[in-house]
Amino acid sequence: MNLTVHDITHQYKGFYALQGINMELTPGIYGLLGPNGAGKTTLLRILVDIISPTKGEVLYNNREISALGSQYRDILGYLPQNFSGYRNFTAENFLMYVADLKGLDKQAARERVQELLEVVGLHETKKKKLKNFSGGMSRRIGIAQALLNDPDILILDEPTAGLDPSERIRLRGILSQLSKNKIIILSTHIVSDIEYIADEVLLLKEGKLIASEKPSELLHQLSNHVWHIQIDENELEHFSSAFTISNIHQQGTRIELRIVSKTQPHPNAKNVEPRMEDIYVSYFENE
Ligand SMILES: Nc1ncnc2c1ncn2[C@@H]1O[C@H](COP(=O)(O)OP(=O)(O)OP(=O)(O)O)[C@@H](O)[C@H]1O
Ligand SMILES: [Mg+2]
Repeated sequence: MNLTVHDITHQYKGFYALQGINMELTPGIYGLLGPNGAGKTTLLRILVDIISPTKGEVLYNNREISALGSQYRDILGYLPQNFSGYRNFTAENFLMYVADLKGLDKQAARERVQELLEVVGLHETKKKKLKNFSGGMSRRIGIAQALLNDPDILILDEPTAGLDPSERIRLRGILSQLSKNKIIILSTHIVSDIEYIADEVLLLKEGKLIASEKPSELLHQLSNHVWHIQIDENELEHFSSAFTISNIHQQGTRIELRIVSKTQPHPNAKNVEPRMEDIYVSYFENE
């Protein structure tokens, strides 16, 4: 199974939201990381065939997705960024309704819905109406509806937004179990999601794919480039204008700085192990 993105460009009224994107995706978890406005949602909407790219094409097993039509939609699960479901439906009824839309038969749907309510931890609240759900609960019902048809391709636009740490960990577990025979793409701004879950990281910046690497490879690229130093309060201005800072921790009048730099920023600076956050700042805050 493969999903190929071939030279995708997307324009909104003359503004380039995506430019020359090429990707070759096979089963596994892809983490799409980029700041606000980078083009993540636009790319995901193109992958699920909600919008057509201005230029380029998306191929599923070597066939153009829009030509595949419902055949493609049948193997797709999608969680939109702004998913809210139908306010007056209970969680259970909403999932039954979506199952019906997706063409599951009644008995299979009943079983699948109960199973997924368990999986996303909403079994206890299945009789509650969606309008009374918290942000994290809405996200989870959104994830459940995306999984109803056991999709081969699962596309999740910020699935962890609003989830508390234990739900975030639970979701990682669910996705890793699923990922053996599925292509899973999730967007996020939360670097720790990517660090723990993604087999491959896709970095999107101003509409361009600037890296597509394994997390370990990205971390490796920064080895010996991340530094730790204690400075005095009044030195902060100098350091922040001269270097890329990935963390500031004030302790009284002393400040602990984490710096990303190819060369040693100061004789007292010591090398530390790179983390995903260092990668984020080095790619996105370098100008
Ligand atoms: N319907 C639209 N019409 C015009 N411009 C749009 C439209 N949708 C998105 N854009 C613009 O395209 C760019 C990419 O938007 P997109 O929503 O894909 O980014 P994103 O990476 O998902 O951001 P976020 O992290 O905030 O969700 C932004 O500059 C946005 O303002
Ligand atoms: Mg978005």
